[in-house]
Amino acid sequence: MAGTILIYGGSGGIGAATARALTARGHGVHLVGRDVGRLETLAGEFGAGFTAGDVSDDALFARAADAASAGGALAGLVYAVGTINLKPVARLSGEDFLRDFSVNALGAAKAVQAALPALKQADGTAGIVLFSTVAVAQGFAAHASVAMAKGAVEGLTLALAAELAPKIRVNCIAPSLTKTPLAKALTGNEAMAKAIAELHPLQRLGEPEDIAPLAALLVSQEASWITGQIIGVDGGRSSLRTKG
Ligand SMILES: NC(=O)c1ccc[n+]([C@@H]2O[C@H](COP(=O)([O-])OP(=O)(O)OC[C@H]3O[C@@H](n4cnc5c(N)ncnc54)[C@H](OP(=O)(O)O)[C@@H]3O)[C@@H](O)[C@H]2O)c1
Repeated sequence: MAGTILIYGGSGGIGAATARALTARGHGVHLVGRDVGRLETLAGEFGAGFTAGDVSDDALFARAADAASAGGALAGLVYAVGTINLKPVARLSGEDFLRDFSVNALGAAKAVQAALPALKQADGTAGIVLFSTVAVAQGFAAHASVAMAKGAVEGLTLALAAELAPKIRVNCIAPSLTKTPLAKALTGNEAMAKAIAELHPLQRLGEPEDIAPLAALLVSQEASWITGQIIGVDGGRSSLRTKG
């Protein structure tokens, strides 16, 4: 079996799809999330281990890294934890900004720090994949807090890719609206989902399976000459304009 990949957000839409894609490629996976029932079900499906906890608890990171590596090497790390807290800037509190920053950006940094010794043991083959959003490359109303937090993730990606080269590669995926529990407030309303889908040159919303193959590729050795990249998986939303 190829080495184990530690997946924060492994109980979520994109994290679980990534775990499925990695398992199909012969990797072991170790899942992290809060929903113990869902983690148990998925761990059973993948023959995986899991660690339950909240990224607001600093003790989670060492627990997860230790459980996933079992004192040996880790082949990779995926941090697929996030928030969508959409409000006009006047209604965002300091706490909103801090919570979004903490879950999206600081959590990613802490996950990397805790896993670093085990990732370094992978003899120059380990990869890290972080998650941003299309709302960093494109400005959207009501996205100030999440765009600020994910902008920090993009900065973190580049800084870590430079600092950890040549031993560990670090890349970031920036999805547009994808049908997962995180986005349910938007995708659950049929009229709103259709209207947003039509804003994409490819005329539909994303599915977790649109994102997972790239996450699996980037974290694995098949991407051994790719580092420091922010890659949009977004139906063309960040860079194309097909009307007007
Ligand atoms: N879906 C989209 O439209 C979209 C768009 C742009 C970017 N993204 C990014 O893509 C990544 C994956 O998101 P997703 O759509 O797959 O979301 P999701 O289905 O809601 O999954 C989120 C995962 O993160 C875990 N999680 C959330 N808050 C946590 C916390 N405080 N402590 C520990 N675990 C926590 C969840 O655990 P439990 O479920 O077990 O609580 C779940 O495993 C995120 O970084 C997100 O920001 C998503």
